[in-house]
Order: sequence, then structure tokens, then C-alpha cells
Amino acid sequence: MRLSDETLLDIMARFQAEMQKGLGKDTNPTASVKMLPTFVRAIPDGSENGEFLSLDLGGSKFRVLKVQVSEEGKRNVQMESQFYPTPNEIIRGNGIELFEYVADCLADFMNTKGLKHKRLPLGLTFSFPCRQTKLEEGVLLSWTKKFKARGVQDTDVVSCLTRAMKRHKDINVDTLALVNDTVGTMMTCAYDDPYCEVGVIIGTGTNACYMEDMSNIDLVEGDEGRMCINTEWGAFGDDGALEDIRTEFDRELDLGSLNPGKQLFEKMISGLYLGELVRLILLKMAKAGLLFGGEKSSALHTKGKIETRHVAAMEKYKEGLANTREILTDLGLEPSEADCIAVQHVCTIVSFRSANLCAAALAAILTRLRENKKLVRLRTTVGMDGTLYKIHPQYPKRLHKVVRRLVPNCDVRFLLSESGSAKGAAMVTAVASRVQAQRKQIDKVLALFRLTQEQLVGVQDKMRAELEYGLKRDTHSLATVKMLPTYVCGMPDGTEKGKFLALDLGGTNFRVLLVKIRSGRRSVRMYNKIFAIPLEIMQGTGEELFDHIVQCIADFLDYMGLKGAQLPLGFTFSFPCRQASIDKGTLIGWTKGFKATDCEGEDVVDMLREAIKRRNEFDLDIVAVVNDTVGTMMTCGYEDPNCEIGLIAGTGSNLCYMEEMRNIELVEGDEGKMCINTEWGGFGDNGCIDDIRTQYDKEVDEGSLNPGKQRYEKMTSGMYLGEIVRQILIDLTKQGLLFRGQISERLRTRGIFETKFLSQIESDRLALLQVRRILQQLGLDSTCEDSIVVKEVCGAVSRRAAQLCGAGLAAIVEKRREDQGLERLRITVGVDGTLYKLHPHFSRILQETVKELAPRCDVTFMLSEDGSGKGAALITAVAKRLQQAWKN
Ligand code: BG6
Ligand code: BG6
Ligand code: GLC
Ligand code: GLC
Repeated sequence: MRLSDETLLDIMARFQAEMQKGLGKDTNPTASVKMLPTFVRAIPDGSENGEFLSLDLGGSKFRVLKVQVSEEGKRNVQMESQFYPTPNEIIRGNGIELFEYVADCLADFMNTKGLKHKRLPLGLTFSFPCRQTKLEEGVLLSWTKKFKARGVQDTDVVSCLTRAMKRHKDINVDTLALVNDTVGTMMTCAYDDPYCEVGVIIGTGTNACYMEDMSNIDLVEGDEGRMCINTEWGAFGDDGALEDIRTEFDRELDLGSLNPGKQLFEKMISGLYLGELVRLILLKMAKAGLLFGGEKSSALHTKGKIETRHVAAMEKYKEGLANTREILTDLGLEPSEADCIAVQHVCTIVSFRSANLCAAALAAILTRLRENKKLVRLRTTVGMDGTLYKIHPQYPKRLHKVVRRLVPNCDVRFLLSESGSAKGAAMVTAVASRVQAQRKQIDKVLALFRLTQEQLVGVQDKMRAELEYGLKRDTHSLATVKMLPTYVCGMPDGTEKGKFLALDLGGTNFRVLLVKIRSGRRSVRMYNKIFAIPLEIMQGTGEELFDHIVQCIADFLDYMGLKGAQLPLGFTFSFPCRQASIDKGTLIGWTKGFKATDCEGEDVVDMLREAIKRRNEFDLDIVAVVNDTVGTMMTCGYEDPNCEIGLIAGTGSNLCYMEEMRNIELVEGDEGKMCINTEWGGFGDNGCIDDIRTQYDKEVDEGSLNPGKQRYEKMTSGMYLGEIVRQILIDLTKQGLLFRGQISERLRTRGIFETKFLSQIESDRLALLQVRRILQQLGLDSTCEDSIVVKEVCGAVSRRAAQLCGAGLAAIVEKRREDQGLERLRITVGVDGTLYKLHPHFSRILQETVKELAPRCDVTFMLSEDGSGKGAALITAVAKRLQQAWKN
């Protein structure tokens, strides 16, 4: 059992390798040293305060405590506590009863301390290996030491306790933190010494924890800062790594234990086993006639008769020898002077080995800390607790000395935890309760974006009402959903053919296209070019805007080698226009990011014609002006004749559909159908959905180019979702819940969250770290916790958008079903827009909502792959054909 320094250095190196193995994602499952993340991320900083309950279960004594942590600044902790017994029939009985017992003790304590009816947060010190995924949860991996209650392994002990506490109706506690005793010890000591970053227990069991760099912890996302790791070093050697140093006594002891083959390192070290090792050695020596004249007593044969306190007493300086005689006599032996000296010697060897082994493992941890910090010398403090360490007269000295010898480049202060782990557990609970309070604030904000089924039905009903107002002559002028007739009355029949130009203005990209339609084959060939429209042109004068458009057309014709060609043109113009025919469209008002002057109230086709005239280079036959929703419906309708709705969920939000002529009071005639551009983005402009608009929606509206207008669009489309997110983030930051309370210049910048960023952030495939990187790219310096919150905010905002959009669509399909007097409606919706296309969840939630709100409609969603340019060209072709027929 004597271990040379060389052996100890070797063991230290083995333990270093074990730690590495336990930390690795792939190696952890087979590692014996489990290196459990604790979700404790920082040592106390003195700002902790409040009143907490604490349970301390798993050491030699079970305690219930009340811990009062002082007001900020004054580092002052007051504790009141009560010990409760832990009889074997409880700790080795039925798990449910164990936790009921614990709950009973807690209730008793609260009763005597007058704490009933007070809602207090509780920190549970639970000194067994638990796998945690958060602070307030821990799955017991296995019992160790003296505990072996049935049915607890592999379950969450916090829920076990919570369940047991439910029986006490008059107590109300909230378990916010589960901590190992090593963690509690480290935190207790760190409250007094901020250098403390290791906690060691040498008591009934043995174990250590320390602060590890997040970047080294594979099992937890994030790489910023540190997290405390509960090493569970007691299990070192369970895979055979220490067989060379284990003795026959260690093996014998293990076989007689509650957990054979487990905790082999612990069994060479800790208080529960030390006395027993001594007994086994003495028994062997007596049997061999080397002690007590070969006499053995029945007590010496009895397991557990020599305890750690005996070992400690026998090794005491001065009284030790007398103590030894007394103890041996009590065991029914008649020791000689020489026997007593020999027995003392055995004790020393066993307890020294224990200290040596602890020192080797601790030296490995200290080296790891030093290397993590890239220091030549490490100055640190180790928090210590446990009865063996506390009551054994030589133990601390020996341990300290060996550690200093093994790691000469570490200046270690050993700090005894005077008040046990409960104080530290209260610190952890204090931080957790602050986090919980903040969480509540965040949830309160997010709750504003959660719509109930009832609210969604309300939106659907109001939308339905607005659609009807918009169609009726008397109410049309007051309706917020304008229901604009488009003069598109039929679908292409496949006979269209020819070459057409198309413009596509108003979405993310401005395009000029050449579309070649081949008759009969329902196939088109397209060539297109994207042009930028600078902000100063979007918001300059109308003349500049249309001159720019014509310039782009000229470039395109040039590029295609079509200079001078006189082609029919279809103009996709994605803004609300009042039409009197297919080739006339008066702009009602700009939406989205456009605000060129002198356009509103003007015919956009005329403006385009005039710009072409101004340029005087080519002539074009502008045959049709169409909204992008209409273009999209046509694009999809060319392939699926059942497609009678066009939906855009992109920069803006809008929908068109085929309506019965008899319902359209603004247009003469009752025969057939006509496409209606609903311009539903304006829904709510009369305040009818103000009950679900939040302060953030209002802020976005106020900061927009068209305040008070397009309220529904501003809650549902790509151009605004990022802005809503930004407003929420600003508010959360103001409340100190994000970005360390600092509102950066970037966060003040309008438009930073484009749809593509929202989509990336919300992607399920993205690890938190990547989210953080995106935020960093956007210039937002966020922690991992911030990233989680940002992702949640994005999720809440986009989810609401998809649901609102779904409620609107449900109103339309239901109307179509009822108008046609159908039991079930089958209909296809052609969809386009970056939000729908790029966002990972938008389309799914939209579809789910429609299904729920319009259960009697089978809606097929067809993504428009080719954009609305194709549809515009088809409309142009149809119009051209009809024009020709009319002339003839
Ligand atoms: C106590 C701590 O002081 O020490 C407990 O409060 C811990 O949390 C115990 O488990 C460890 O020592 P022992 O000797 O009681 O197992
Ligand atoms: C494009 C269409 O595919 O989608 C445009 O061709 C339409 O006409 C646009 O305006 C809508 O989406 P976004 O996201 O670009 O506004
Ligand atoms: C055992 C437990 C461990 C605890 C230690 C000290 O090793 O498994 O969780 O920290 O005892 O009590
Ligand atoms: C805006 C426009 C509308 C367009 C929609 C989608 O809502 O007003 O005409 O269809 O954006 O681009």
C-alpha cells in the first residue's frame, strides 16, 4: 500500500487521461470517470441575496436548513438547521418512501421554523452521481456509499422530491437547483475566497469538482466561460485502470460492499471504507499469527467493526497509543504494546495511502486548471469538506504536502468549509432564482405573441367580414381589404404562344425577363436578369424610378441581343393598383420599402410608357399590369388548373383568388369569374385587430414608411418580422435581460434582421454556437444565453406571422367553399415569397393553421418555382389573344 512519488505521478497522469475521456462526447459513454456537467457556471460574486431552503442528503448526516443570504454588498449569511436521522430501512428501502421521508423532514422543519405558507426556493445538495441537463434536474446514475433505495436509479431526483412534497398541501417550495456536495463545498468556500475553483470531499465518500472551460465540455452546447464539472472521481479504476495498485484487501472489501465492482478509487480512500480496510489487514495478520498472539475475536471477524473514527483516534499524536489499546480491547482482543504499535502502523499506511491517492487525483485537476489558463504558475484555492479530512489528525497535512510535491508549480490554498455545502447550494439557488425571475419576464413578453385558437378564429372571422365589405359597392370605400378587380378572368388554355417581355417589380429583386411560350406543350423558356434598385431611387421621384426601370429594360434588351425588338410586355407591379382594364392600373399607395414621389394616384402603365418615350430608343407594347399574387397564381395555374389562389409571403404579404363575377359589385356582369387582388396587407388598418397587436408592432409601424397602414402585413411579412424581433430585443435589453443590458449601435439600426437571417437563426439544424456566430456577424455581441433568447424571440414572432397568415387564408378558402355550396372544397394555392421559401417553419405552421381553421377544405400548396414573371407573360399572352380576337 505504500506508493512512491513515481507511482503517484503515474496515477496522476492516468487520471488526467480519464478526465479527458469523460469530457469527450464520443468517449464519455465508456468513461468510468463521468465528468458530469453541473450547469453551475460561475462562483458567487456577492450579489446573491434572499431566503432559501436547503437540503443536504448523502453525507454522513442529513440536514435541513434555512439560509438567509444578505443584501447586496454585505456578504453575510445566516443559517438555521436541523439534523434528521437516516435509518438503513429508509435509505435502502423503497425510493418513493425515501423521498416521502425527506419531504416529511422538510415539512417538519418548516413547521418548527414557522416557514409554512411561505414560498421559498430550495437548493438540494444530493451527494450522488447525477446526469444533469439543467440545474434543476438530475438523473441518478447509481447509488454509492450507503444508499441503495429501489426505483430511483435512472430517474430525476428533483421530480421525485417534488412529487413527494405534493403530499404536504401546506408547504410550497420550488426546487431550483440540484448540486453535488463537492459543488456545494466549492461554492461555500468561493463565497469567502473568490480564488476557490475546486471542491473536494473526503468523507463517507470521496469526490471532487472544478471549474472547466466550456470549450472543453463536449456534452454542453456553447464555448463561452466556464462550468463546474463534478468529476465523480470515486469511480476511477472501475474499468480496471487501477488493478496494479489494488490489493487483496481492496478486492475483499469490494466484494462485501453494496456496490461490488463500483467506486473502486473511493473504496481505497474514503471514510466509509478506511476502517474496514484496517480490519481486513489486522484479521489477516492475526490469522498469520503476526498479531495478538494469533488470537482473533469475533468482533475482529465482524464487518464494519472498525470505523474511520477509530482509525483517526488510533493515529492521534500522544494519545494514539492509549486509544489503540482501548479500541482493540473493546474489540475483545488482548493487545501487547508491540501489537498496538503495529496496529497504529497499519492505520497510518492505510490512511496515508488514501491521502496519497487523493493528492494524485487532485494534482491532476490542478494541472488541468493551470494548463487551461495557460499559466506557468497557478494560484488557486481548494474548498475542502468531509469527516475523514476533518477528524483525522494527520490527514490534511499529509494531503497538502503530497499535493505540493506533485505539482510544485501550483500555489494551493486549502480552505476548510466550515458551514457545509448548504451555504454554497443556497448561492447556486440564489443565482437560479434570479435567472428564473428573468425568465418569467422574458416569457411574459413572448406570451404576447402566442395566439389562442379563439383569437385565430376571431382573425379569420374578421377577415371574412372585410372580404365581403370590400366586394360590396356600398361598403367598398370603407373596407381595409380593398378587393381590387384585376380583369384577369381566365386561365391560360395552352394555346398561347410567342415571345414576351416581363417586368417583376416590388419583391426582393427587380427582374427583367424574356419569356418564350410554346403552344400546346405547356412549357415556357425564360431568360432573366436581376437589377438593383438603389434606395435613393425607391424613395426618390417617380420619374427617376421609371427612368431607372427603362434603363434596366434597355440593358436587358442589349444583353439579350434584342435591341429594337418590339415585344408585348407584362408588368408585374407588386403594389395595390385600381384597375379599369388589364392594361391600366392606378397606384393607390406605395407599400413596403417604396416611396417614390408623384406616383400615387397615377397610372403606372402610363408612367412606364412616358419613361420609354423619354428615352426614345425602343417601343414596347404594354399589354398587362399584374400584381405579383396574380402572376404567381398564373404561374402555378399553368401547371395545375385547380390553382385558384395566389399567395405571397415575402417582403410583403398578399393574396389573390378567383371570385364569382356575381359577387363583384364593382364590375359589370355576372358571368364567370375574375381574379381579385385582396390587398389583405391593409387588414386591420381600421383597428379591428388592435387587440392582438403588441407595443412592438406599434413601434415597428411608427418607424415604417407608411405609419398606420398595412397593419396585417406588418405582422406577417418578411420586411417587418425582423423589425419586430429587433424591437423586442431592444426592450429585453432595456430590462437588463439581454446583451448585458447594453443596447449597441447595431441593435438600433433598422432592418438588420433580414428574412434570411431570421430563417438561419431558427433552423433546427443549427447549433447554438452557430446562432451566436450569426448574431456576431450582425454585429451583436451575444452570449450563448442571449442566443437562446434571440432564437426564442424569432420563433415567437415568425410563428405568430404564420398563424395569422393561415387564419387569413382559411377565411378565403372557407368563403370559396360556401359560395360554391360545397361540402368539401379542393383547391390549390400557388405560393411565392422569401419568407415562405426560406423560413424553416413558416410554411408548415401556415399549413397546419389552415387545416385547423378550415377543416372542410383540402388545400394543396404549390410552390411557384419560376416567379411571377412567367405568370405575367401568360396573362399578356392571353390578353394579346383576346385583343386579336376582338379586333377580328
Ligand atoms: C458536509 C456537507 O459538511 O460534508 C455534505 O454539508 C457532505 O454535503 C459532507 O456530503 C461530506 O462528508 P461526510 O463525511 O459527511 O460524508
Ligand atoms: C418572386 C416573384 O418570386 O417573389 C415576385 O417573382 C414576388 O413577383 C416575390 O414579388 C415575392 O417575394 P419576396 O420575398 O421577394 O418579396
Ligand atoms: C460519492 C458520491 C459523490 C459524492 C461523494 C462525496 O462518491 O458518488 O457524488 O460527491 O460520495 O460525498
Ligand atoms: C404588398 C403589396 C401587394 C403585394 C405584396 C406582396 O402587400 O401591397 O401588392 O402583393 O406586398 O409582394
